[in-house]
Amino acid sequence: MSATSDAASINQPDNTNPPLTKTAFGNDFTWGVATAAYQIEGAHDVAGKGASIWDVFSARKGKVKQNHNGNLACDFFNRYPDDLELMQSMSIPNFRFSLSWSRLLPEGVGQVNQAGIDYYNRLIDHCLELGIKPWVTLYHWDLPHALEQKGGWANRDMIGWFQEYAALCAKAFGDRVKHWMVLNEPMVFTGAGYFLGVHAPGRRGFGSFVPAVHHATLCQAAGARVLKSMLPEAEVGTTFSCSHVEPLQQTEKDIKAAKRVDALLNRLFLEPVLGLGYPLDDLKFMRRIEKYMKPGDEELLKYDFDFIGIQNYTREVVKYSFWTPFMQANLVPPKKRGVPQTLMNWEVYPEGIYHLLHKYSQYKNIPKILITENGAAFADELKDGQVHDPLRVDFLQRYLQQVLRARQEGANVSGYFVWSFVDNFEWAEGYDPRFGIVHVDFETQQRTIKSSGYWYKQFLEG
Ligand code: NOJ
Repeated sequence: MSATSDAASINQPDNTNPPLTKTAFGNDFTWGVATAAYQIEGAHDVAGKGASIWDVFSARKGKVKQNHNGNLACDFFNRYPDDLELMQSMSIPNFRFSLSWSRLLPEGVGQVNQAGIDYYNRLIDHCLELGIKPWVTLYHWDLPHALEQKGGWANRDMIGWFQEYAALCAKAFGDRVKHWMVLNEPMVFTGAGYFLGVHAPGRRGFGSFVPAVHHATLCQAAGARVLKSMLPEAEVGTTFSCSHVEPLQQTEKDIKAAKRVDALLNRLFLEPVLGLGYPLDDLKFMRRIEKYMKPGDEELLKYDFDFIGIQNYTREVVKYSFWTPFMQANLVPPKKRGVPQTLMNWEVYPEGIYHLLHKYSQYKNIPKILITENGAAFADELKDGQVHDPLRVDFLQRYLQQVLRARQEGANVSGYFVWSFVDNFEWAEGYDPRFGIVHVDFETQQRTIKSSGYWYKQFLEG
């Protein structure tokens, strides 16, 4: 994509929206930045840490672009004091990060690694000393390898393993961490990791995917129950990837195909939690999940979360296709539609977040919604000590504008976290897609605040 032509098409002045100021969102709105352990920490095999599925997967040749891995990443494990100070200097009040399960329990269960507990204690304490609130995700995709060897998410024993891990985290950190998220984007880690095989652990097919979906949905609720029973005062949520879905044409076939894609991407993990069951009417191929359901599971899938985290980057435009097995739907890529896109080949479509906020606000039993991730990857370059990323500034402003519009129309959204604080390891894409509002030179580990970081700081300072 050419940055200049896209800049021209993205930078359309928009006079129809309310002015974008922090005040316009109200005082009860939560602002922050988000990260995940494997993407930033590095220190993959020190201080007693066990291997995770991402350590193993990224060591396999050809699995990650340019054979990149998270062995060092942003070296956040060692550099967190400076990074948190930088965050504070940018007036960022909330920091979302995840815990590495295999740093705390190297074998997934059993023996606790005290050095791991000590590290997260230092990190949490330092956040609090700087006036930054920690928002902790229990599971952001880095399953202990030892558990994958026992079947991972496809094994129903995951429920017990996950409860043990959740209880350990609640006990160790619950006196200071008041905001928790159970899972990060279950659709992505089951779909990419257990169906397509393009993410760790690299398994393929329905035999892995379908049980993984069911066990992740059960763990979503089981983990929350553990946290809440041990920490009744804490706010407990969980996060979902979601994209606004539209048919390419208003034909019956395209409309139905879009409905199926919407069920898969936006409803599969959420609706069972809300007591609506899996959306099997619109996802016939998922009916095989019933094979894995045990008596009482429908109840176990339900949980009254304090908040739902939605994570949005793009929209999907869907065309019916006879040739696509299971879904009979094709996603029409942005390039084919001639619309602006990011380095991930994801369409820049700010109105999508507006539609999603209204859509999710209509569900009963969702007391509040937070946007726990939103952001964009571009090919940022460090020149003369500076990083100009006007496309990201524009992206953030236009998405936020739509969040504000939805909120002013009554959508119950009350928080926003930029993905991401720093450039980091973008899973199978390696280090090339840069999502940070702070640039990282991966040779020197030098941090440079990008224009978008300066913009966010100014915005947050009101
Ligand atoms: C969602 C994931 O939670 C995060 O880990 C990833 O880096 C971003 N999306 C961007 O792809």
